This record gives sequence, structure tokens and C-alpha cells, in this order.
Amino acid sequence: MKKQQQPHTIPLTLLGGLSAEQFLAEYWQKKPLLIRQAIPGFNGLLSPNELAGLSCEEEVQARLVLFQGEQWHVENGPFEEERFASLPERDWTLLVQGVNHYLPEAEELLQQFSFVPYARLDDLMVSFAPDEGGVGPHFDSYDVFLLQAEGKRLWRISEQDDLSLVEGAPLRILQNFNTEQEWVLEPGDMLYLPPHVAHWGIAVGNAMTYSIGFRAPAAQELGSVFLDYLQDKLNLSGMYTDPDLQYQPHPAEIGSGMLDKVGTMLDKIRWQREDIAVFLGRYLSEPKLHILFDENEDISLKQFTQQLARHGIVLSGKSQMLFHGRQFFMNGEQWTAGEQHQDILIALADDRQLNATCFDATVLQDTVLLHKLREWYLAGYLYLMDE
Ligand code: SIN
Ligand code: CO
Repeated sequence: MKKQQQPHTIPLTLLGGLSAEQFLAEYWQKKPLLIRQAIPGFNGLLSPNELAGLSCEEEVQARLVLFQGEQWHVENGPFEEERFASLPERDWTLLVQGVNHYLPEAEELLQQFSFVPYARLDDLMVSFAPDEGGVGPHFDSYDVFLLQAEGKRLWRISEQDDLSLVEGAPLRILQNFNTEQEWVLEPGDMLYLPPHVAHWGIAVGNAMTYSIGFRAPAAQELGSVFLDYLQDKLNLSGMYTDPDLQYQPHPAEIGSGMLDKVGTMLDKIRWQREDIAVFLGRYLSEPKLHILFDENEDISLKQFTQQLARHGIVLSGKSQMLFHGRQFFMNGEQWTAGEQHQDILIALADDRQLNATCFDATVLQDTVLLHKLREWYLAGYLYLMDE
């Protein structure tokens, strides 16, 4: 079952004939790339009505952006169904985040982008806009692939340095936007944009756009979350002592002797590379606050094992599973696997599924692994396939 190190294979069209390695070397985080017919025949995974339906669900993050009376307006979901009946004919956009969490069909689409590590993936956002709709000229802080589904969209882009924003607007709109390049994208066409490239998408007729978006934590956030992690692990021995205390004329002063001693105590705070891996794995696999897993009904280990052999398993679209060495991270939880579990768990993390044939006699007798998989199953982190 051990995977060989191999060049990442992607459909030849996805990056316009470039290999993943070439794309990463020449474009990723460096410059935009327009790819005509990246996914030939792609026409979306859900209809505008289904997208609107999703945006009415309690747990789903959705926004309506309207341009009315020369002003931008933003409404946050969940929406009432009636809201869609009262929308104007034009100049609005519905944006729904995390569509991959709710749509199993999105898994196959996202797998095509697995030449970028899962730890960098944020989610799949889908937008719908009637003719001329859009969210205005802006820039994002993250990499994104903008894949055109139904309809057409005019994309204007600019690598301008002036990123000043309209003051007081409820969303980020660039004060000045100077189109440098523009293209009309048709279904299956895709535009890759690195962070901070200004862009402006305008619907040509009814248009749906799929944004495969990436995440990149800010240094400040990484630092502060790491310090939280470290705090739980902190185990410093001894206490402050000062047998060499010297008389000081100002009793209120924090003297330099005290500073030196405390500095020496704090210098004993240490961490290893392994701590960084564990912190990062937990942090990057932590679900966003609004994400709730649907627990599966209780099932005995024996029944579960039988089902595994029959169906295989698939990760929930909401699950983030990462690993480093034998440390496996599932939705913020960490598990140190045995050596014998490593290959099968790496396959589950990479492929996000294990078909029934992966469960051979040896695996089906490995109760430690089976208990773990059942625990993840009960939590709703994974499902039996074909369910
Ligand atoms: C959209 O799909 O309307 C907006 C996507 C973006 O500009 O990032
Ligand atoms: Co954008």
C-alpha cells in the first residue's frame, strides 16, 4: 500500500498543459494564469436554485452583495427563501462559502487541485450573479482559482500597487482600479490569481463562478496560537531565588539583578521541531467555528468492521485530515499511530477515502485501528461509502 514518490499527475488541460511542478515554479504566488478549457465540459455542480437553497441553511456561510443607489450593501445569511423573490433584476451577487462541506460531488473537483497541500486549502466558494452583477474591484490576501461554471464572466485584473480601499464601504472595494488585462471566461475556463492581484469579475448574463480558495495564516496568528499550545506543555522546574540579593536604595524599583534572573528562567522555555508539527497539525486541521459534524448512529465494532469490508470509507467534506510522520490530525485532534497503521492512514488522508479492497484480513484484525476508525465514524468525521 506504500505510495511511491511520483510527480503529481493532473489532467493535462487543468493548468493549460503545464505540469503541477511547472505551475508551482512559474506561477504559484507569483503571477496570474488564464487557462482556457481547464476543465472541458464543466458546467457546475449545482443550480442557482440549489445554491440559494444552501444559503438558507442555518450552518452555511453566505452573503448577498448588492449595488444599489451608487452604494454597496452586504447582507449575511442564512436567508429566508422569500429574500430571493424580492431581489432586483441586476446588480447583486450571492456568495456561498464551504460548498465542499455540503456537496459530496465537490470532492472530485477539489482533488484535481491536490497538487497544492491540503494544509493550504481553504474551501470552495460558489457565486451566482445575474447580468452585470459582481462584488466590485478588490483584492484578496489568498491564492484563488476562479473556475467559470454556468454562463460567462468578464474578468479584469491589475497588478497595481495602489491597493487603497473605498472608506466606509461594507466590503473591500478598491478606490482606483486600472484594468491591465481582461478576458471573458466561459464554462470550463479558469483564472489563477496570486494574493493581492486586483480583480473585478462582471457577470455576462447569469453567471456562476467557483472559487477554489487557499489559506495562509498570518505570522501574528501562528505566533499567538503556538504560545497557547506551548502554555499547555510548559513544565519549568524550580522557583525564583536570590541568596545574592544586594541592598537597593529604591525598594520600588525592579532591579537589573531580578531581570537577569527571570530572563535566565524564561530562557529555559524550549520547543522541538516535533512541537511545531503537532501544533501545526492541530491548528490547521481545526474546523472553523461554525462547522458542526453530523454524528453517525452507534454501531458495534463487529458491525462496523463488517461494513468496512463491504463498503470502504470516505471522509466527510467537512473533515480536514493531515499528518506528519506518525502523527495524524483529524479535525483538530491528534493521534499517534503505530508503524503498522501508517500506510493505510496516509492513503486515507491523501485520497480522502479507502475503498473496500483496502480492508484486507490483516487490517480487519487490527483492533486498535478499527477502534480509531469507528471513533471517527461515530463523530461524523467519515462515512461508509455508498451511504
Ligand atoms: C465572485 O465569484 O463573484 C467573486 C470571486 C472573487 O472575486 O474573489
Ligand atoms: Co476576489
